[in-house]
Parts: sequence; structure tokens; C-alpha cells
Amino acid sequence: MAIEKDRVELEQLFCKWLSMYRMIPMLRMLSLGTKYVDPLSRAAWLELRDVIDNSNLFEGDDPEVLKKMVKENKNWIKYAMQDFEYYTYVFRGLLEGVNTEEYDKFKELQEEREEVYLLRMQEQFDLLEWEPKCFELQQKYTCIMDIGCGTLPYINLFAESNSKNILTYYGVDKREIPPGPYMLGKSGMAAEIICCDLTQESERALLGEYKPTVLFFGESLHCFVKPLELLLQLVELLPTVQEILVLEFSDESWLGVGMDFHMRMHGGFGKIDLEYIKLFAGKLNAEVEVQRPSSQHNLYRIMLK
Ligand SMILES: C[S@@+](CC[C@H](N)C(=O)[O-])C[C@H]1O[C@@H](n2cnc3c(N)ncnc32)[C@H](O)[C@@H]1O
Repeated sequence: MAIEKDRVELEQLFCKWLSMYRMIPMLRMLSLGTKYVDPLSRAAWLELRDVIDNSNLFEGDDPEVLKKMVKENKNWIKYAMQDFEYYTYVFRGLLEGVNTEEYDKFKELQEEREEVYLLRMQEQFDLLEWEPKCFELQQKYTCIMDIGCGTLPYINLFAESNSKNILTYYGVDKREIPPGPYMLGKSGMAAEIICCDLTQESERALLGEYKPTVLFFGESLHCFVKPLELLLQLVELLPTVQEILVLEFSDESWLGVGMDFHMRMHGGFGKIDLEYIKLFAGKLNAEVEVQRPSSQHNLYRIMLK
């Protein structure tokens, strides 16, 4: 249908257009060019070049479709704006230092921005289509631990892909996730939410009492400053784990345009790709498979021996 095609094309343009807001902090980063930010300046440049090369904005737009896009992506818009303001504070702080009042505003913004991020994740979910049974697991009877679970958007996909084989679903997040209908998978399987900041050793250690067989990271592994180290710590802490699933945007993803730079700023690392996953798997002599569960994602499956 023509309208559906317009919608998809516009959505792609729209995401790119919003990503332009990310260009402002990127430009700022380039203009700083100090020793401290040098690797980030290079990342900013590569990202910018990519955005500029690929942008072909506002061709053949239809106001009605555009209005719909705005409505469907309102948290993305809000988040992009907050991101811009957030990094303005960060850069100013780097250059000039901040006073207490500014610091308080910055902390407030940081909290708001994190809330909007979760809302965006829910919003994004409505734009995605998943391959049937894309989260089918190798094991027959399974206990899943969803790390950085947010509002558990994947619980139903796991339930659908594995019929009745999931015994327990644990969601782990550093935020207090309020109880909600999302905690119940369609199969009636209930999730238990564990509030835990995995970067804190004492909090992470408490997970040792659980016996998950699968660890799942739904666009969350990139949030950690040292993802590889965290994976190794979790494997040691949770010896029952047999399979690790890591879901991240693929290079072709238009929902992820400009996110490389964001991730570098956000997690201090960069992107989680096959090369990085192989580095981890190599350390444990594990096997890796890559799948495409949606047009936007790669799913890395790591089978431990
Ligand atoms: C991009 S969101 C993904 C949320 C969810 N998986 C989804 O797809 O909607 C990343 C999640 O990781 C969580 N997270 C980030 N750092 C964490 C940490 N140190 N410990 C536990 N959770 C963390 C965040 O609170 C957030 O909910």
C-alpha cells in the first residue's frame, strides 16, 4: 500500500532527522578537540560523516503521515531534546566546571531523561516486527534472567517462542521498575523483578542465589562501561547459565542512527558487534551465532560449554 510505504520511508527520514539533534553535541565535541576527548572526537566525526552522507531529508513528505510519526515518536523527540541539553551540561562542566545550582539541574535532567528513555523503549516496540519464534531457546526447560529489563518488553516474545518451557523469568534492573501488566507473559508466566545495580559488586553478588540457565540483554549490554568484564563476572557468579543472548541494533538499523556516538558517551564503550562478542566467547571457548530477529536488530547467541 502506498501509504504504508510512505509511512516506512518517512519514519526512516524522521529518525534520521531527529538524530540531527545529536549532531550538535558531536560538533561541539569536535570543536573541543582536547586530549581528553580525542577518541570521542574521532567517533563524533565518523558518525557525523555517516549522517551527512545518508541524509536526504524532507523529500516527498505528506503532512498527515508526518503528524502520525510525531505522535508515534513523541518520547523519541523528547529524549533527543533532553540528550542535547544533557550533553550541553556535560561539555560546559568539562570546560568551565559547574556550580551547585547547575549540578542540581543536571541531576534532575539526568533522571527525567532516563525515565523518557524507558518510555521510548516501549514506544519503539510498537514500530518493530519480530520474526516468528525468534527467541526460541536451545534448552527445553528454562529459567531466564533478563538483565537491564526495563519494562520487560521481551517476556511475551520468549513465551511465544518457547511455549511452556520457561519456568521462571527474572528481570534485573538498577531502576525500581513499578509493577505493571507487562510483568505477566502471555503464557501466564509471571516475572519477578530484582532491583540491582550490576556495576556494584555487593549488589551483583546477591544475584548468586538465583539459578538462571539463560542470560538475556535486550539493548542493555551497551549501557555498561565494561561489558566484557561484566559478562565474565556474571558467568562466574551464575554457573547454571548455558546460553547468553545479546540483542543490539544492527549496523543497518535506522532506529539506531547516531546511537554509536550516544553509546560511547553513555556507556563509555562503543558498540557491541560480532567482533566484540567473539572476544568474549573466545575467552570461554564458547560458540556464537548471529540472527536477525527484526529488521533493526542483531541477536548474538553465545552457547557456553
Ligand atoms: C536501553 S534500556 C533497555 C530496557 C529494556 N531491556 C528494553 O528493551 O526496553 C537499558 C536498561 O538497562 C538498565 N541498566 C543500565 N545500567 C544498569 C546497571 N548498572 N545495572 C542494572 N541495570 C542497568 C537501565 O536502567 C535500562 O532499563
